[in-house]
Amino acid sequence: FAFTPDNQKWAEAQIKKYPEGRQASAIIPLLWRAQEQEGWLSRPAIEAVAAMLDLAYIRALEVATFYFMFQLQPVGSVAHIQVCGTTSCMICGAEDLVAVCKEKIAANPHQISDDGKFSWEEVECLGACANAPMAQIGKDYYEDLTADSMGDLIDRMAKGEVPTPGSQTGRYAAEPA
Ligand code: FES
Repeated sequence: FAFTPDNQKWAEAQIKKYPEGRQASAIIPLLWRAQEQEGWLSRPAIEAVAAMLDLAYIRALEVATFYFMFQLQPVGSVAHIQVCGTTSCMICGAEDLVAVCKEKIAANPHQISDDGKFSWEEVECLGACANAPMAQIGKDYYEDLTADSMGDLIDRMAKGEVPTPGSQTGRYAAEPA
């Protein structure tokens, strides 16, 4: 793994933001940029980031494995869907969303669909409990989901559409007065 020249320049600028001896603090933005570049975080990518920050590989791996935002195996080329399965979402129908992912994508979490486009997993609370149940797709939150709207999102994304994030029932869609 190597950062592209532009990403390398960006990464070096991030590291310079921190005081001498505190360069390890740049680990999350660097891991995130590596993931954006490759689609997921391979061991060579984590090793490269660790080397840039003068850290042992295990220290970087500890961070990469702690957060759901980091994917440690390849994901679908169109989207990796993270369905919240914590209490509010679970009570409001998260299991139905997971069932749709199993039916339309793959039987198991982190398994890539046969067409290579999608993967999914269940994650812990993403902080959008008021609009449960919800899922994060890429960087966006899709909220107030139902089995039907979840299935519709997947179908539209498979066709190359980018559905509007936020509440899928229009809740809180209006600008505040
Ligand atoms: Fe699902 Fe908080 S419980 S977003």
